[in-house]
Amino acid sequence: MGSWVKISKTENGFYVNLAEDQDKGATIKLLEEKGILTNEEQEMRMKKLYFNVGSIHIYNDDFLKTNAIEDNSIDLIVTSPPYNVDVQYENYSDDIPYDEYLVFTRKWLTKCYSLSKKDGRLCLNVPLDKNKGGQQSVCADITTIAKSIGWKYHATIIWNEQNISRRTAWGSWLSASAPFVIAPVEVIIVMYKKRWKKSRKGKSDITRDEFIEWTNAVWNFSGESKSKIGHPTPFPVELPKRCIKLFSFVGDTVLDPFLGSGTTLIACLEMNRVGIGVEIDKKYCDLAIKRLKERGITQKKLIKMF
Ligand SMILES: C[S@@+](CC[C@H](N)C(=O)[O-])C[C@H]1O[C@@H](n2cnc3c(N)ncnc32)[C@H](O)[C@@H]1O
Repeated sequence: MGSWVKISKTENGFYVNLAEDQDKGATIKLLEEKGILTNEEQEMRMKKLYFNVGSIHIYNDDFLKTNAIEDNSIDLIVTSPPYNVDVQYENYSDDIPYDEYLVFTRKWLTKCYSLSKKDGRLCLNVPLDKNKGGQQSVCADITTIAKSIGWKYHATIIWNEQNISRRTAWGSWLSASAPFVIAPVEVIIVMYKKRWKKSRKGKSDITRDEFIEWTNAVWNFSGESKSKIGHPTPFPVELPKRCIKLFSFVGDTVLDPFLGSGTTLIACLEMNRVGIGVEIDKKYCDLAIKRLKERGITQKKLIKMF
């Protein structure tokens, strides 16, 4: 059976209306094969677009559910997922059993894999391990899950936050009975989808000194203040900035599926990358918008959808 549609071009791209008397299922399948969105799909995607100025986009949505981002479209993912260390988020429980946390991890890493281009890369900021409520090898477990999905391993960067906080938990003090050994560092796991070498030429904006310093996989810079930013777990702009300059070309598309206070998009704005952020909590979307405005995102072009 033939499939008939009316295609019209608008500012937002092509809109497709299905003819009423046609086999809808067959038509949608055909459109999907051609990478064309139906009118309904376009509207669904637009609905969750919370903020868009130029090349910066924020979706207020559950990353696991969003259909706003096209498969095979992302050059670089920079993110720090919920750590499952009982941080008080409003829309998300950060204190689930560890095996459930790993199931959640598998789901979002699988989705990231589908959204990435063949030479797409992933920079994943997580704790090296978990010490409270039972020791867990977080970095090793997440790396293993990512590899089982298809992600290929490139490196692990140690981020020494230089937090000079006073140790209180020693386990058995001055005794070999049961001492606690704690590494006050986080990591950035660097992976890629199918091939490490970029298939196309692009413009890099990293300086000689930055390249030499940042390719040494021990990074020393301070963490970000929760109270200053107004989010329980922000990373400093320095973290996505380094990942973006080191691992993507100018103009590439960068995704943060757990946007939080918008730090990755600030780095995208400053480094001239297309930035897409997804955040489940509207309050943090607003915080991200506020921070982007403070960093000079063009006021007159501002479109806030809701
Ligand atoms: C570790 S924080 C990210 C902090 C961020 N890097 C920053 O600098 O502010 C994780 C964020 O993921 C959000 N989140 C949790 N589950 C989510 C989901 N399913 N989809 C989208 N965002 C989610 C939380 O609300 C939280 O803001």
